[in-house]
Amino acid sequence: MKVGIIGSGGREHALCHAIKKSKKVDKIFCIPGNAGTHDIAINVNLDINNFELLKQFIIKNNIDIVIIGPEKPLVDGMVDFLETNKIKVFGPSKLASKLEGSKIFTKNLCKKYKIPTAKFGVFENTKKALNFLDQCKFPLVVKADGLAAGKGVYICENKNQGQQAVEEIFNGKFGKANELLIEEFLKGEEMSFFIISDGKNIKKFGTAQDHKRVGEGDTGLNTGGMGAYSPSRLENDLLDKKILDKIIKPTLKALENLNTFFKGFLYAGLMIIEGEPYLIEYNVRMGDPECQTILPRLETNFLEIIEAVINQKLNQININWCDSKSLSIVQCSNGYPGTYESNKEIKNLDKIVLTKNEFIFHAGTKIMDSKIVSNGGRVLNLVAKSSSFKKSREAVLILIKRINWENGFYRKDIGFKVID
Ligand code: AMP
Ligand code: GLY
Repeated sequence: MKVGIIGSGGREHALCHAIKKSKKVDKIFCIPGNAGTHDIAINVNLDINNFELLKQFIIKNNIDIVIIGPEKPLVDGMVDFLETNKIKVFGPSKLASKLEGSKIFTKNLCKKYKIPTAKFGVFENTKKALNFLDQCKFPLVVKADGLAAGKGVYICENKNQGQQAVEEIFNGKFGKANELLIEEFLKGEEMSFFIISDGKNIKKFGTAQDHKRVGEGDTGLNTGGMGAYSPSRLENDLLDKKILDKIIKPTLKALENLNTFFKGFLYAGLMIIEGEPYLIEYNVRMGDPECQTILPRLETNFLEIIEAVINQKLNQININWCDSKSLSIVQCSNGYPGTYESNKEIKNLDKIVLTKNEFIFHAGTKIMDSKIVSNGGRVLNLVAKSSSFKKSREAVLILIKRINWENGFYRKDIGFKVID
């Protein structure tokens, strides 16, 4: 079988790695991929925004199944386009992807279906938003509606910050804005909850906690994610049931009422307040670095799960996980999430010998003149699993020290709430 994986980050390297374990797979194409996927897949340098070229490549190379990693092609309708061309694909439709593509769509859906979430208002111009801010208590949260690579969310401590957020959004910092969201600030503990769905059946696909802030102790600017651990310390059966009954199932019902369904990974970003879940946001894909953290715990054959989703037979398989505690740390280019330099050589990666419980997933790397060099803000993901988060973090920190790369930094405190 030939599998195509769309994307180029650590998540996609982890997806390739999991697919590769299946004996049924004889070729993986990663489009466009990175220096890590190059070792286990054929990297294809193709513009993934060009759906027509992509379709031609898939047909020409007899690719049986396509798995889409990142949100943008999903929100742009890649699934609908490929399916119209009779290509089997793992991921949600354009309409279902609005759960991530439009925060206002999701908030309105929450209101209609009484899904617990922060109170909110939608404002269509600066004047109305600022008038509202005049009457508000702080902190509160101002959000751009569309995809903003994790940067369109402002936690505002006072009116000045609120005003700046409103102006930046309406001035087009994240693309043309017709509306924005102002939300109540929820105080609790965050948790990422994943399910996989074939449109008829759903299964839980693990929990995790990521660290989005750049600095130790969860301080500083927001990033795509500096590290994660799985499972979340908050996970328990009662909370699972509440999340499924109050949040996930009503959402899937709402999609059904819109004459669509959800196929793929659905990632609920939650705030847990006194044991009750509130939805902060949906993502219509695996998280990054949550994917790299969760997949090493999977015992069931990953390709079989993907095929079961595509064939709408997810009810026929059990998804099994090992008991271990998994933890990832992201090694970033100095300067990230601000400006940084790329093309810096990472010297001795090929000499590092990993145990069966250690993993190096590449994110922003590429091959240049036969050398591995950095190619982005988040560069490498180091992951270890063991009987405790403490041991896993120790193993990752030892692993990072063996990497000969002077241009990077990382957080040493990932998982501090469950370790220190
Ligand atoms: P989002 O991109 O919507 O997940 O927001 C990014 C981060 O902002 C979240 O992971 C939370 O830490 C924080 N956040 C977003 N909305 C709220 C809210 N209503 N209350 C508190 N924190 C929030
Ligand atoms: N790590 C957060 C995300 O993938 O959205």
